[in-house]
Amino acid sequence: MKNGLEDVIAAETRLSDVDGEAGRLIIRGVSLDHLVSTATYESVAALLLDGLTERHFGPAELGDWLGEMRVRIFAHVAALQSDLLALPPVDAMRVLIARLPDGEDFEAALRLLAAPAVFLPAILRLQAGNEPVAPDASLPQAADILRMLTGRMPSAEQKAALDAYLVTISDHGLNASTFASRVIASTRAGLTSSVLAAISALKGPLHGGAPGPVLDMFDEIGVSENARGWLGRALDRGERLMGFGHRIYRVRDPRADALKKALRPLVLAGQVDRQRVELSEAVERAALAVLRERKPDRPLDVNVEFYTALLLDALGFPRESFTGVFAIGRTVGWIAHAREQALEGRLIRPRSIYVGPVPQAA
Ligand code: COA
Repeated sequence: MKNGLEDVIAAETRLSDVDGEAGRLIIRGVSLDHLVSTATYESVAALLLDGLTERHFGPAELGDWLGEMRVRIFAHVAALQSDLLALPPVDAMRVLIARLPDGEDFEAALRLLAAPAVFLPAILRLQAGNEPVAPDASLPQAADILRMLTGRMPSAEQKAALDAYLVTISDHGLNASTFASRVIASTRAGLTSSVLAAISALKGPLHGGAPGPVLDMFDEIGVSENARGWLGRALDRGERLMGFGHRIYRVRDPRADALKKALRPLVLAGQVDRQRVELSEAVERAALAVLRERKPDRPLDVNVEFYTALLLDALGFPRESFTGVFAIGRTVGWIAHAREQALEGRLIRPRSIYVGPVPQAA
């Protein structure tokens, strides 16, 4: 019995492979390094979904359909009343997604790709007291998300940075939320149910809920000179350093470097707070040193959430929305895995070992 199912193989997949020793991620035969410098959200979505629905399409067709679907989905934003707006953004988003019909076909997949991209910016605008901005079907998904968030057309650097983020996090092996998606798909409940289960798994701080706390950590540290002392005290209290460590990677998470690279054009264009970038570099250096000292037997390195925090903050997303932005990007991976499971897998039904009391003989 493995408590966290580590090293247990629970699916065969053609979608992605995480090599934790080499620090390498492959998505449908393409390395992340290559993908992130060449692909858009639409092209990685077409790559992941290829052959898994009844339709055949390329990135351009998918982009057109997705634009039209964003416009249709926007009608659901009217359901955002004050009780929903009092919830954290990812929870409000989950409620709106739960109202979408379930299904296993391409139309259901398209709805679920468009929905989080439309819902999250609308929720954030309403929570800030602004009117939602309607989607523009002619824009690529990344540019439209930023436009719906801020009400302005994003710069080329901002659009490219969000595209790189969405590509980088599109899929990542059998992580907790993807496994949840596959479990639901194995019962044939439908893609909406799979995506809802996956979002629910994602929001935990040990999975996709970490990047907001990374920014809280920067704020509390304040200046570079405080980093080492602050981090040491956090470990003394038995806390975990957010943005470090991973179940599979024993070296640097390759997605951290992909996002660091995606951040650079924004820094060069003066669209990021330079002081925050310098502080983050000091925190990273100090954290790696302290973790090496305190946990010499466990290689702990930076993970995707560390640079996610910097990148999404630079793009104007409030920190409480970071998990929701992650969900926008990861939904395509969840859908691809759910379809693969439904097409090729069996009902997932493991066993447990009973360690409770047994009835006494009379
Ligand atoms: N800070 C401090 N110590 C950490 C740590 C972190 N971020 N991540 C792991 N460790 C330590 C644990 O305390 C444990 O030490 P111990 O054996 O002395 O008790 C050891 O490393 C192994 O941890 P374990 O809980 O077995 O690893 P895991 O595979 O279950 O954890 C994470 C993976 C991601 C949950 C974990 O690294 C973590 O909590 N990171 C912070 C949250 C985060 O950044 N999440 C985003 C992940 S992409």
